[in-house]
Amino acid sequence: MAKIYVTRKLPEEVESRLSEHFDVRSWEYEDEPVPRETLLEEIKDVDGVFCMITEQMDEEVLEAGEKLQVVANMAVGHNNIDVEAATARGITVTNTPDVLTETTADLAFALLMASARRLPETSDILRKGEWGAWSPLQFTGQDVFGATLGIIGLGRIGEAVVQRTHGFKMNVLYHSRTRKPEKESALGIHYEEQDTLLQKSDFVMLLLPYSSESHHLIGQRELALMKKRAILINASRGGIVDEDALYHALANNEIWGAGLDVYEQEPLPADHPLLTLSNVTALPHIGSATVKTRLAMAHLAVDNLIAVLDGKEAVTAVNH
Ligand code: DGY
Repeated sequence: MAKIYVTRKLPEEVESRLSEHFDVRSWEYEDEPVPRETLLEEIKDVDGVFCMITEQMDEEVLEAGEKLQVVANMAVGHNNIDVEAATARGITVTNTPDVLTETTADLAFALLMASARRLPETSDILRKGEWGAWSPLQFTGQDVFGATLGIIGLGRIGEAVVQRTHGFKMNVLYHSRTRKPEKESALGIHYEEQDTLLQKSDFVMLLLPYSSESHHLIGQRELALMKKRAILINASRGGIVDEDALYHALANNEIWGAGLDVYEQEPLPADHPLLTLSNVTALPHIGSATVKTRLAMAHLAVDNLIAVLDGKEAVTAVNH
């Protein structure tokens, strides 16, 4: 039986599937990531690892896994893994695309709606007993219906978000590394250069993978291009946005608001400056967080481990 290490306590149905196929050792906690020293030790004699975005699967860790054949990440994003170093060692890296597309698109669109209509902020005001008498501009937000949405990164989740905009009669612009003419006619969207998209959009939504190329893609210069009444939505990875620049743009009302599900540092410390701003709608990285989707992600990671350790092609490989 192949040996695997699982970096988190998983739901029972996933654990029992794993133990039918493998000799399994696991980190025992559900809410606490495995310490790096433990991972470095545990990885030494295993053939596969089932890991989360909280584990930095860098060269040192991959090197420690002398017998390692596969790293199955329970996420679509894989910026926590040094894929190049894995490839160089013949290690297959897998992720969990598709199964989380619709759920993540739901959350991204919910974040847009919540930010536009100030849902968490006004709900908090009510709970604190600070709801004053009705007044003409009290709690006013921005219209979603008929607004222009600029999506940067038109992958699977971006396309699923576009589907959600149709009922809201939004005008959708997109920018991605490669232009996709067939999507433009099929989805009724328009390609723009990134700067033009930033200038024209009422909402700018980031849905691209994080890499050295997209690091701080949105900084002071880009924020300055956005409309004063625009809202930035980030549901991909925190590092795409320069958070210091974002804080200053929001604090000085250079843009109207931000809806964030991801941060440069996660968990985001409670005393982070962004959390002092009422024009920030902040969520704790819950893009794919429904029971159905998280179970589907876990099962897909198991499928990948089974396939690779059985000498077959991975179901959803990132490399190879
Ligand atoms: C992913 O899959 O990359 C998400 O960010 C984790 O849910």
